[in-house]
Amino acid sequence: MLDSFNREINYLRISVTDRCNLRCNYCMPTEGIKQLPHEDILSYEDIVEVVNIAVRLGIDKVRITGGEPLVRKGIVDLMKMIAEIDGIKDLGMTTNGLLLDKFAQPLADAGLHRVNISLDTMDAKKYKLLTRGGDINKVFSGIKVARKAGLDPIKINCVVVNSSQEKDASEVRKFCMKNGIQIRFIHQMNLASGEFSVVEGGEGGNCSRCSRLRLTADGKIRPCLFSDLEFDIRMLGIENAFMKAVELKPRSGSYNRSGKFYNIGG
Ligand code: 5AD
Ligand code: SF4
Repeated sequence: MLDSFNREINYLRISVTDRCNLRCNYCMPTEGIKQLPHEDILSYEDIVEVVNIAVRLGIDKVRITGGEPLVRKGIVDLMKMIAEIDGIKDLGMTTNGLLLDKFAQPLADAGLHRVNISLDTMDAKKYKLLTRGGDINKVFSGIKVARKAGLDPIKINCVVVNSSQEKDASEVRKFCMKNGIQIRFIHQMNLASGEFSVVEGGEGGNCSRCSRLRLTADGKIRPCLFSDLEFDIRMLGIENAFMKAVELKPRSGSYNRSGKFYNIGG
């Protein structure tokens, strides 16, 4: 699909849940979040139908996100159903890695190609603070199992406050270099005020070359993370929602006051 600024749209990011087993301070407010009602969340059959139509329209790259995708029950079954759709060249997942030691192998067997894992520090105490309770050793064992399972490439998403030269980021970079893992530095963003910048080592945040659409866990196609535009597949029909999203995809991001990372998928 070509949008109105001649960008080829071939990439769909799918948030399968707004739930997460962490509470990263830059993602979740301290007071907790209002979760989507269960009946609003798309079933796996719904998601597969969306992907089938998306592929027909020209999507060939899919990423599963959340919230934390591995907390949704039956995620391996969904992966298998998506991997079986003809026409997907690239199938990835973004995860916090906590449950990867259990899921990396079954997901690889189901057809997942690659994985991005969030890791902002190498310090166990800081990690626990930042994520409000996470065990960093689970992430490390998750990375090991992901590697063994043949997921490739494995990339680390490292959120930085000021620069990729800051101490925590440097230590994560060292770990990645030692282990042959790619790293991407994502500047901490604020959706509501529209503060965003390009991802170092990745493609995010580069509006002129953006090829993405997003599907939220409750069935809305969002053409831009930094926009309030969304097109409800239940109200508009799947194909129509895609067409509208592509047609109205903004030239560049502005701000987003209606969505959050945990329900749009970062
Ligand atoms: N700024 C930047 N990235 C964020 N993420 C979540 N919240 C933010 C934020 N405020 C991204 C991180 C994390 C992924 C799950 O979502 O990259 O790795
Ligand atoms: Fe969960 Fe990712 Fe948000 Fe952290 S950033 S709370 S891991 S969804």
